[in-house]
Amino acid sequence: MSRQIIVGNWKMNGLSKDSTARTEAILSALPDTAVDIVICPPFTQLAAIASLTANSPVACGAQDCHMESKGAFTGDISPEMLADLGVSHVILGHSERRQTHGEIDETVREKTVAAIKAGLTPIVCIGETEDQRETGQAEDVLGWQIKGSLPDGFNGILAYEPIWAIGTGLAATTSDITDAMTFLRAELVRQFGENGKTIQILYGGSVNAGNASEILAIPDVAGALVGGASLDPEAFLTIVRAASAH
Ligand code: 13P
Repeated sequence: MSRQIIVGNWKMNGLSKDSTARTEAILSALPDTAVDIVICPPFTQLAAIASLTANSPVACGAQDCHMESKGAFTGDISPEMLADLGVSHVILGHSERRQTHGEIDETVREKTVAAIKAGLTPIVCIGETEDQRETGQAEDVLGWQIKGSLPDGFNGILAYEPIWAIGTGLAATTSDITDAMTFLRAELVRQFGENGKTIQILYGGSVNAGNASEILAIPDVAGALVGGASLDPEAFLTIVRAASAH
């Protein structure tokens, strides 16, 4: 089994002082274990956090990037710019961007291709809404998102984040996650063949210090994408330790 990955998505949270303090708190109490840890601060804190985490076991990731390497794209940030800062990962297609920035599968796929070309590891997010789940469309939606968002030969990380579990405090149940993982693995193999067997799948959606061990023990869960709880170093480190136990 490969190392589990714990990714902290800070979303739009963090000014200079608290971002530095949070990162230092994490770095000073890292367990001595085989877990990959990535923290994803907002763009404004990337340079500082990439520099603080350089030469540490913690990697620094961004929360989005553009699909072009440079040009007339006011306000956007290219994957090359991220790599230039020492950033190694980038979250793409998060549901909050799909919902509020009009990102569609094709946009996510183009960004994923660009990120890989720049040497970044993409963490591509997919997940169904509550309505899609209740009307029995979840598997179709996930299948289409995989097909549309992941390029051929994809070798990054996939994050399954059911939208109804994000920020609600109501994580999916062990049985829901187990079913979703079984479906996603089969779908990845169906769409990508041999390659689909090794794509790592993270779970995200209300992961916290209390439920992390149970979630991380589910077969095929390669790690967690953590939102709210990643803002609290103690909670985040508890999640990291839960991963290390497997
Ligand atoms: P929460 O952990 O706050 O539910 O957020 C999950 C998420 O969206 C991580 O990308």
